[in-house]
Formats: sequence, structure tokens, C-alpha cells
Amino acid sequence: MSQPHVDRRRLLAAAALLAVGSARAQEDTFRIGLLAPMSGPFASTGRQMEAAARLYLAKHGDKVAGKRIELIVKDDTGTPDQAKRLAQELIVNDKVKVLAGFGLTPLAFATAPIATQAKTPMVVTAAATSSITEASPFIVRTSFTAAQVVTTLADWARRDGIKRVTSLVTDYAPGIDAEKYFSERFIAGGGQIVEAVRVPLRNPDFAPFLQRVRDAKPAALFAFVPAGVGSALMKQFTERGLDKAGIRLIAEGSVTDDDILNAMGDAALGVVTAHHYSAAHPSAANKAFVEAFGAATGGLRPNFMAVGAWDGMRVICEAAKVAQGAGGQALLDAMKGQSFESPRGPVTIDPATRDVVHNVYIRKVEKSAGQWWNQEFATVPNVKDPGKAKP
Ligand code: PHB
Repeated sequence: MSQPHVDRRRLLAAAALLAVGSARAQEDTFRIGLLAPMSGPFASTGRQMEAAARLYLAKHGDKVAGKRIELIVKDDTGTPDQAKRLAQELIVNDKVKVLAGFGLTPLAFATAPIATQAKTPMVVTAAATSSITEASPFIVRTSFTAAQVVTTLADWARRDGIKRVTSLVTDYAPGIDAEKYFSERFIAGGGQIVEAVRVPLRNPDFAPFLQRVRDAKPAALFAFVPAGVGSALMKQFTERGLDKAGIRLIAEGSVTDDDILNAMGDAALGVVTAHHYSAAHPSAANKAFVEAFGAATGGLRPNFMAVGAWDGMRVICEAAKVAQGAGGQALLDAMKGQSFESPRGPVTIDPATRDVVHNVYIRKVEKSAGQWWNQEFATVPNVKDPGKAKP
């Protein structure tokens, strides 16, 4: 009769001990939830992000303020609902102190209200639409903005004497930013936009439109497509003979993404882009990064998605030191205003906007020693997001 009682008491005591143990383990751990597209059409982005985040911890140690840093990686499959659900789980069940990642803009927008409600910092390491940082006061960005890079490209194009341009962008928020900021700046500089076309995010077919561009014969085609999609555009651009017709391709740097540039090969030669990171950036910090990334991944070349994640981990880990392992507002405040040397060059997190300020480089695809590179040939230093400058 008393036996079941004793058993129940023992069980309760054991459960209590376990609970104390796991609470301690939680106190001893600083968890980071990384959301990345690990499957689906944007899986190359997820692979780059995860490899860079893990490399950062391997190089800098996984301890902060006496706690072990634990990186929890979840596959958001590139869909907003999935990202939002996983973010909720990471905060409620895994008690992460910070969310990171966001390979595509719609995922960042879907998750922003969760970050606000939970007062959990959310570090956007990939997505590039200007207004993302305004979607929650808890968002900090270490990637870039499309507006930052295409305005710089528009200035270069005018200086280079390019006058008539057709614009081609992917039909979602960063593409629309790219189209708007490029054309406004280009027209203000005396240029002319012949036509502006948008293609779908999923399964775009560039061929019918490229035929029209060929007939319209602008001086250049300006393009934005997200990381990973550039090869299809480049292939069809040359297959349709636009290069032979004397039409230049100028692009937002995602088009000649370092992850796929060698696969594009000669088709990409001479393409001029503006971006914040090239694997060919000639600094000691970048050389070390490219080498370590290759060694850790069996020879992959890091792209701007890797650098965004690497710098995101830097911002998080340094902030965690200052906040002594705390999360919430203390962690967020310690992210604002950070200034450091990234593999891309100097980076600052603007304390007023929580957005990234960095150099924008003009690059040209060149071949050297059997590989293709985005070779930087001009630098505009410390570019702020023009999307924040209210009229
Ligand atoms: C975005 O969704 O904001 C995005 C994704 C990939 C890019 C650029 C922007 O290469």
C-alpha cells in the first residue's frame, strides 16, 4: 500500500533534480538561434550562413561571460510561415537569447513582430530590403541594403558614360528597392530608363524579356536577382547574344555571387557590379577568412552571405560579453555602435538606425589563375543606407 507512495515521491524528487539540472544547464548556456534556408532553392545561402557562423565560433572560442555558446540551426526552407514558427519555438522552448539569419526579406518581415513581443534581438545577416530595420526596434543588420549598393552603381554608370539602361529585377521587396533606388539615382544623374521589368522569385524565365532587351538595344542591362539565381540570368544573357549585340550587363553584386561565379565562368567576364563584399578583397583579414572558410568546407569560396553571418556572430558575441551573457535590451544596446574590421573592410552598426554602414566597391569579373573573381577597382567609403534618409 505504501510502496506506490514511496515510488511517487522518489519520482518527484528525481524530476525536481532534473529540472534544477536543466535550469542550470540553461543558465550556463548562451543560445543563438540561426534561421537559414537549408533546403529548397536557396539552400546554397543556408550552407554559406551556417558554415560561416560555425567557423566564427571555432576561431573565437565558444565561451562568453562564463557561458558556453550554443548555436541552434533551423531550416526555414525559405518560407515566411516556417521562419516565424521556428522563431517562436526557439524563443519559447530553446530560450535563445538572440535570433539570427533571415536569408530572404519576407522571412525577416514575418519574424519581426515576434522579436518585438519577446524583446529578443534579431540579427539580420542576409536580407537586404531597407525597411527591414524599421519593422522592429530589436532588429540589427549585418548584411547590406540593396539601396546602398545600387545607388553607388548608378553613380558609377553615369560617370562611365552609360546613358540608356533597361532594368530587370526579381519581383519582391529587395528587387523593388533595387529598381527604385537605381532608377531614381540614375535619372537624377541624367540617365534614362528605357524599360523596367520584374520577374517572379520562384522559377523565373528570363528568355522572353531578354529578347526584347536585345531589340531595344540599351547601352546596358541593370539587373538584380537574389544569391544563387545569377547563373540562369547570365547563361540566358549570353545565349541570347546580348553581349555580342554590345549590351553591357551591370548588376547588384548578388548576380555574380562568389559561390557560383566559377560555375558561370567566361559568360560572366567583364560584368560590372557594386557590392560590399568580394572574396577577392585584398586585405589580410579577408585572405585569412577565405582560407579558413575553404579549409572548413572542403573548398567552398565564401560569398556575402557567409560574411554577413560571420559578422553577425561577431556582433552577437561581442555584445554578449558587454551584457555579461544577458539577453533582451542589454544585449541589443551592446550591439549598437559596434565598429570593427570585417573581411569586407570596416563595418559600423549605426546606433541610430541599427543598420550596417560599410564600404561599397565597384568590381569587374576577371579571370586569374583559372578562377573567376569580382575584382574591386573603386571604393566608396562608409556608405549609409539611403533608404533611411527621410526627405
Ligand atoms: C533578400 O531577400 O533580401 C535578398 C536575398 C538574397 C540577396 C539579396 C537580397 O542576394
